[in-house]
Amino acid sequence: MGILFKNGKIITASDAIDADVLVEGEVVTLIGQDLRADNHELVDCAGKFLLPGGIDVHTHLDLPFGGTISNDDFDVGHMAAAFGGTTTHIDFVVQPIGGSLRDGLETWWAKSRDIAQIDYGFHMAVTDLNDAVMAEIPTMLDEGITSLKLFMAYKNVFQIDDATLFNTMRVAADHGMIVMVHAENGDVEAALTPALLAAGKTDPVYHAASRPPEIEGEATNRAVVMSGLTGCPLYVVHMTCEPAIEALRRGRALGYPVMGETCVQYFFLTVDDHMALPGFEGAKYVCSPPIRSKQDHGLLWQAVRDGTLQVVSTDHCDFWYDGGHGPWQEWNERTGGRDWVGYEKQDPSYRRPGKELGMGNFAKIPNGMPGLEDRMLVMWDAGVNSGKLSPSRFVELCCSNPAKIFGMYPRKGTIAVGSDADILVWDPNKQHTISAETHHMRVDYNCYEGRVVTGLPVQVYQRGRKLVDGAQWHGSNGSGQFVPRAAGAPVL
Ligand code: URP
Ligand code: ZN
Ligand code: ZN
Repeated sequence: MGILFKNGKIITASDAIDADVLVEGEVVTLIGQDLRADNHELVDCAGKFLLPGGIDVHTHLDLPFGGTISNDDFDVGHMAAAFGGTTTHIDFVVQPIGGSLRDGLETWWAKSRDIAQIDYGFHMAVTDLNDAVMAEIPTMLDEGITSLKLFMAYKNVFQIDDATLFNTMRVAADHGMIVMVHAENGDVEAALTPALLAAGKTDPVYHAASRPPEIEGEATNRAVVMSGLTGCPLYVVHMTCEPAIEALRRGRALGYPVMGETCVQYFFLTVDDHMALPGFEGAKYVCSPPIRSKQDHGLLWQAVRDGTLQVVSTDHCDFWYDGGHGPWQEWNERTGGRDWVGYEKQDPSYRRPGKELGMGNFAKIPNGMPGLEDRMLVMWDAGVNSGKLSPSRFVELCCSNPAKIFGMYPRKGTIAVGSDADILVWDPNKQHTISAETHHMRVDYNCYEGRVVTGLPVQVYQRGRKLVDGAQWHGSNGSGQFVPRAAGAPVL
């Protein structure tokens, strides 16, 4: 007995077709008109769309960063993702300084293995390249990891130098891997920040001044040039502004294998309206690169429409706005800053440190914001309902392009015979008010608070198992699977 999705409209990157979908076991086995019910479980999808499960290829669950650890982990973060229609994500393993890639991988396995509720993969962030690590890179393919991430920013934390980027690209190119970069010139940022602080410019809004668009554009161009020289596929993460988009466009026009993503927040939030809010409120919106201006929003919509950008993800990395409650310093000393979930479970009022770490010094605000649960809802509402994106382009940006670029297609990212039955029953007429009161992310604010969106997943299936039914959660710990990915993925 299977599950028969009847009377829906299937949306893929290329088509919108009225057809039934039969799921048997974990995969789609038949698509056609008027399929016989036999003894299958029926899901009536009249008036609904059937979309492939969303794929977010840029998340940071349980990431030690900025003096704390990001709130959402592979348990709660997964549930939140699924409620927002995302059934697969790729998170970033970080190589420990002085350690191996495998050391990092073991750490991230331990974070995810037993508690995962949705499917996931890993990118490998290379932070400390030497000959041994260089030799280790191709072995990541045996682990199903095809993508390497390098940070051109966060000096003295994650930042690598140009030689590391260039040499990593050479190895990656030889093995059909892809290199991702966080493109901001970290040396310039490290010079601007102390000057701003010394001038008394300590409020959250000055985070944006410490990371102007020019340093994003410069770093993007540097990476694009290296991709051209090495032939290594490049994927620039979280692109926000004209100098960066122009660098990518130029590279693409030259035939370099370069691609880019932006994240949902960069379409909606601005320095003036959000980071410059009174008091410390702007800290909620501190992320790197910073949110920009309304003009940049227009530019990004243009870039996702014309194909300059291939993916919309989230860079989900959330921290309490009002954190640091309870005896967290003692816990920190006792556990070495680990197991904050355990800390918070002791008492509902306890919170690990969060954004408040940067009160009086914007440079100490943990960088990042929530978005994993919001991405599909907000992009559908603002993109598809407004006519800026067709439903198929929405699917491309949020589901199929991420799967293709990162070697998971067609297992993930589409609804086709043989694909994993990751299916969203999407009600295009259902309204929902986004709020921290009702979201499932473990964080005390929502960047889109009060926004009314139309269109959401009313049922969410992963590999034929129902995860979400209206407000009900049906997932379970350990049922999310690691998705090994294939090298030699296409450049789009
Ligand atoms: O502010 C951000 N983006 N935090 C997460 C880490 C990163 O740079 O992607
Ligand atoms: Zn980044
Ligand atoms: Zn990130």
